[in-house]
Amino acid sequence: MSNQTFTMIKPDATQKGYTGAILDQIIKAGFSIKAMKWTRLTKEQAGLFYDIHRERPFFGELVDFMSSGPIAAAVLEKENAVADFRTLIGATNPAQAAEGTIRKLFAASVGENAVHGSDSDENAAIEADFFFSKLERF
Ligand code: RTP
Ligand code: MG
Repeated sequence: MSNQTFTMIKPDATQKGYTGAILDQIIKAGFSIKAMKWTRLTKEQAGLFYDIHRERPFFGELVDFMSSGPIAAAVLEKENAVADFRTLIGATNPAQAAEGTIRKLFAASVGENAVHGSDSDENAAIEADFFFSKLERF
């Protein structure tokens, strides 16, 4: 699925009321929404989603944060989706994110950085399957 990526608007951004503004940026950048849901992760679900980071020092903080409030999860489609979406969101640390990127505009810190974007086509497919069945994608 090289033309699709997966995103979450994270709890910091949903709780600050940025969901609409972030979706607007995503759509204006040329991504179309193939699936979307508003939900809240348990600690266990957040841990499974970020399982790759389980041994990292920030894992506990990451799980606490990602389960601290609602998220908007979505599958997005565009040519070159994974790389173009990473460009749109900017660097993990918003202090290092380029001007005009979603993290520069809406994120406060490296831990609470407003959005997730898949880092490869393979992970985009795994992450989309984590949240959505085939019946939920259009
Ligand atoms: P994401 O997976 O959420 O799109 O973020 P990313 O690829 O830009 O960064 P990644 O290395 O995958 O890290 C996942 C998330 O863990 C939190 N983090 N905290 N305190 C820290 O030093 C630290 N480093 C990473 C962030 O929420 C990051 O987005
Ligand atoms: Mg990542």
